[in-house]
Amino acid sequence: MYPHIFLPISVGGIELKNRVTMAPLYLGYASEGGRVSPLMIEHYRSIAGGGAAMVVVENATVDHPVGSGTRRALRADTDDNLQGLSELASVIKKEGAAACLQINHAGRFSIEQAPLAPSAIDTFGKMTRAMTIDDIQHVREKFVQAAQRVKRAGFDMVELHGGTGYLLSEFVSPRTNKREDAYGGSLENRVKFPLEVVRDVRAAVGDFPVGYRFLADEWLPDGLKPDESTLFARALSNAGVAYISVMGGTYESFFLPEVIARSKIEGYMADLARTVRMNVNVPVITAGRISSGKTAEDILERGKADLLGLARVLWADPEWPKKLEEGRESEIVHCDPACNDACMHLVMKGKPAFCMQWDKEKIKKYNEMFR
Ligand SMILES: Cc1cc2nc3c(=O)[nH]c(=O)nc-3n(C[C@H](O)[C@H](O)[C@H](O)COP(=O)(O)O)c2cc1C
Ligand code: SF4
Repeated sequence: MYPHIFLPISVGGIELKNRVTMAPLYLGYASEGGRVSPLMIEHYRSIAGGGAAMVVVENATVDHPVGSGTRRALRADTDDNLQGLSELASVIKKEGAAACLQINHAGRFSIEQAPLAPSAIDTFGKMTRAMTIDDIQHVREKFVQAAQRVKRAGFDMVELHGGTGYLLSEFVSPRTNKREDAYGGSLENRVKFPLEVVRDVRAAVGDFPVGYRFLADEWLPDGLKPDESTLFARALSNAGVAYISVMGGTYESFFLPEVIARSKIEGYMADLARTVRMNVNVPVITAGRISSGKTAEDILERGKADLLGLARVLWADPEWPKKLEEGRESEIVHCDPACNDACMHLVMKGKPAFCMQWDKEKIKKYNEMFR
């Protein structure tokens, strides 16, 4: 019934059984100290077991605490977590999905009092510290070390987080990058740091695919827009990333009324993905309320993207792919836009998230596992 959704595809040399991927979704399930918890293992086992071809595990910090967006961020910056990360990769693969881990530096949205950023800029009442050339070098090395750890842990791929307004995207944005050196000013200078990270990571991990979460539009009047971001996408494609996973918005635009309204629409980022896809030679993932089989099939059939990134949609019902494939679409438990992003608000308060659509038994089970 949905031929395009269930077509296999090769991404960075990894064979994916269909076009459904889990887009990274931070839920606050790691233990204190950013360790992989039993709840996290159970969560990703259930997602991978539902039939998705690839699971991109939520953002893991490359440098704690300066690069962490929350106290419970998963840690990819220490070998102390290697065993837990290996367990996570193994559980996902055992369920038949490719395992990918997203690595991140939160930049100006870090938990630090004076977060690192391209330039000194007010961020929700905190003044950031402009990075020195030494800081830039240090963060590049942290990304490299984290990516090598992801490979050693047994994941199939690593994804660099260049979305949500975190550090990599802060360099690209004309709004947050006010530097006057070789890393600021022209677009060519603003993309220099993320491209250096891609180059260094690729050189260090060798034959191991490196994907990129990509901010195509900040949805802010003075922010990054597709006229510039598509040129950056082309540079990423030429730099050898395995795929580009397109998103829009940052913490500064997510809660604007027009962005809230837009993000209730099915497939609301698919046109952004299409713009990117026209400019690159690598597979493109799109996310954003891809709730129904019809929307998903339509996106693929019309060539807006090569792959679907389902975050809340898959979390609300991990069996979304299986039910679709078996003709049981009417049984899917849907993420409900009317809940007004309850999960997002919970994690922003530092609490673990539970989906409002789950039955009481599942919420009880997850609550019991949380510690
Ligand atoms: C609670 C929450 C946590 C998220 N965490 C991440 C993350 O760790 N990394 C990332 O790149 N995107 C993250 N996202 C964005 C999602 O990957 C996705 O792009 C977005 O939620 C739209 O897809 P959906 O409608 O299927 O949820 C998060 C979104 C939400 C709501
Ligand atoms: S809590 Fe609400 S927004 Fe989050 S996945 Fe569930 S229904 Fe969707």
